[in-house]
Amino acid sequence: MRAYVAVAERSEELFDELSAAGATVLHTEGRLVLTEGGPRRAAWATNVWLDAERHGFASIKEASEILLSLGQRWHLFSQSHHRRAKLIEALLPPVEHAPLTFGARPPRAQLGSWTLLDANTLVASPHCSSQFPNGEVNFVEDRSAPPSRAYLKLWELFTLHGKRPATGDLCLDLGSSPGGWTWVMASLGARVISVDKAPLDPKVAKLPRVKYVQSSAFALDPATHPPVDWLFSDVICYPGRLLEHVERWIAAEKARNLVCTLKFQGDTDHDVARRFARIPGSNLAHLHHNKHELTWWRFG
Ligand SMILES: C[S@@+](CC[C@H](N)C(=O)[O-])C[C@H]1O[C@@H](n2cnc3c(N)ncnc32)[C@H](O)[C@@H]1O
Repeated sequence: MRAYVAVAERSEELFDELSAAGATVLHTEGRLVLTEGGPRRAAWATNVWLDAERHGFASIKEASEILLSLGQRWHLFSQSHHRRAKLIEALLPPVEHAPLTFGARPPRAQLGSWTLLDANTLVASPHCSSQFPNGEVNFVEDRSAPPSRAYLKLWELFTLHGKRPATGDLCLDLGSSPGGWTWVMASLGARVISVDKAPLDPKVAKLPRVKYVQSSAFALDPATHPPVDWLFSDVICYPGRLLEHVERWIAAEKARNLVCTLKFQGDTDHDVARRFARIPGSNLAHLHHNKHELTWWRFG
């Protein structure tokens, strides 16, 4: 059995995604969806419990023994019966979750997840898609240098997927204002062409290796643009318009790595999300630092 924890307030999106993937839903409980089969990753899940099992138990001690027979590192995803769940949790080894310093290696040890379905039934999975509790990656934040908190999306992506711009890489940052992403790229030693209709924060605009271009992202023609190592887009626009633009960059073979935020206004455009996900070699996920957004990327 597999269990998915939906992104907060995005259970509908997760159901749609799982049914399109052919998963059979067995049970739902708040943000938790239990399925037979189903993919190892789901864009609208913060965490996938890969080998979930349902167990009946008679006492708190028995519940803790069941969990300890399955693994040693557990995170409680508590949605109901909180007091009883906390008593069981108190019998498990404590697990520290210190905020991560950007650049430090993320934890490698498996972290299991469990929850109570009712007073005498637990669901537990010793293996999950994320090593972070509920897939929530928290950083030691820099509250002074970056001009917006959007930088956390890139920190998260680079940390989880082990790839980031190298010193000297050329990055094109579309929809860059006020400059959180540009700040991340520049602080990694990359060269940045930072494009927005709105101005950059002056502190970011004067960073070395940053060139600001006041323009619409869509005015750039990939066919005539010099090649870039990284194409980033955090432009606020309809995802369909972004897809057309990304397809032009891919067809022109001008961007080795691509990272884009799909920003949904009102209803989620599932069709466009699926079309992004079908681009060969690419990935689509809701990062912990995304809002009503998905991050799509393709690393070369
Ligand atoms: C969410 S903000 C980007 C935040 C930025 N990544 C950061 O880290 O600070 C979205 C930006 O998209 C810009 N934008 C909207 N339409 C655009 C267009 N057609 N071309 C370029 N920028 C656009 C807006 O001006 C806004 O600054």
